[in-house]
Amino acid sequence: MAAARKSMHGEWSSRWIFILAATGSAVGLGNIWRFPYVTGENGGGAFVLVYLACVAFVGIPILAAEILLGRRGRQSPINTMRVLADDEGLSSRWAYVGWMGVVAGFLILSFYSVVAGWSLAYIFYVAGGVFNDATIADSQGEFHQLTGSVARLTLWHAAFMAMTMFVVARGVSGGLEKAVKLLMPALFSILLVIVGYSLTTGDAAAGLRYLFEPDFSKINGATILAALGQAFFSLSLGMGSIMVYGSYLPKDVSIAQTSIIVGCADTVVALLAGIAIFPIVFGYGLEPGQGPGLVFITLTIAFGHMPGGQFFGALFFILLTVAAWTSAISILEPVVAWLVESARWSRLKASLIGGVSAWLLGIGSLLSFNYWEDFTPGGRNFFDWAEFISTTILLPLGGMLVAIFAGWRLSLASSMDEFGTGPSVGYRTWLGLILFVAPLGVAIVFAEGTGLRRAVGSFLAAVSTALFS
Ligand code: PFF
Repeated sequence: MAAARKSMHGEWSSRWIFILAATGSAVGLGNIWRFPYVTGENGGGAFVLVYLACVAFVGIPILAAEILLGRRGRQSPINTMRVLADDEGLSSRWAYVGWMGVVAGFLILSFYSVVAGWSLAYIFYVAGGVFNDATIADSQGEFHQLTGSVARLTLWHAAFMAMTMFVVARGVSGGLEKAVKLLMPALFSILLVIVGYSLTTGDAAAGLRYLFEPDFSKINGATILAALGQAFFSLSLGMGSIMVYGSYLPKDVSIAQTSIIVGCADTVVALLAGIAIFPIVFGYGLEPGQGPGLVFITLTIAFGHMPGGQFFGALFFILLTVAAWTSAISILEPVVAWLVESARWSRLKASLIGGVSAWLLGIGSLLSFNYWEDFTPGGRNFFDWAEFISTTILLPLGGMLVAIFAGWRLSLASSMDEFGTGPSVGYRTWLGLILFVAPLGVAIVFAEGTGLRRAVGSFLAAVSTALFS
């Protein structure tokens, strides 16, 4: 029955197109904007090491699981989870995993579009020579001027969301396929140019030491939780983006191979971004833990001083915007696919309503950089909360449920059929990781990072004291 299913939204024209689209979803602000600053906030090398382990042992297996479920269900994540649960005689409540993804997606898209709007604005700033010979103070000043202006932020946020709605409304295959084919290699090349510049003019030794020399005293529950959240965010996992892309994947494509390619490409881009940024941070005596402004402040200093910097800088922000665009499209797609399937709306109506709702929510994040800067209930502003709830809580939780479903609830016959390799070494390795390592890993990290383990420990200690003393 599953083998005969077809997606009503169409199919990718080849395996490569899927790899490009999934890589386009994975590579985005998460790699170039978020990875360096979260690494900076979490002390460098040790965080990177934990991050790599999360990608290899939890991220890539769940990536494969999402593709597998998507291709078997051939619908939006909510409906895919429902039909697969039905196929296996399980509760239709599994569809809640899809619903959780929708909530996470709205939250992510809302702040993602605000930051992508900065990147869009920076294309024009850099091209206009604003950063020529800029000092640190100039660069910081420009950034704060942008984030201090509600009008400008709203405009750029709206422009980016409009771009996203436009592509999603037209259907994913037409424009997106062509764009990723050309632009992902271009992004990669320009990143290499900046890496070369940064290593030769910044403090390469300090930058590389910071990134790759682990200081294990910096590892604690919160760091590991942050690394896990970053792995999910960067690989687009836990909310249905990869699942919905998987639902358009032809049947004969190898899931194992494609997952590994996408996972590695994403990781290489994140590491390159780190290598591009930290030598400049240390060369100029900047603070690595300065938060979301890190990339915008450090790289513009580099562009302001390198030969041809106006050109390369503008090109860099064009490519960063495109990388963010291909990711944002994949965040909106699951909701739109669901609205088209279930509410029978046109793609245009679904994209408009989905995009505008996320845009409205994004206004809260946008105000966190100015009027609401000091409104920090529980120590976080609106932007930080949106990011924390979606990335650090909902994505790992969604991913864990996907792992449990694919490993423990889906029959082995079904998963082996999708893998298409029989009980091969690759399949058995995946099965071991998805059955035990991924769900347990997320559960332990979660319990530790959120303080739950200690809370449960204290509770049990109190109970045993009450009972036995
Ligand atoms: N992976 C994207 C990035 O690294 O920028 C962001 C993202 C896309 C997160 C899709 C989640 C998602 F479902």
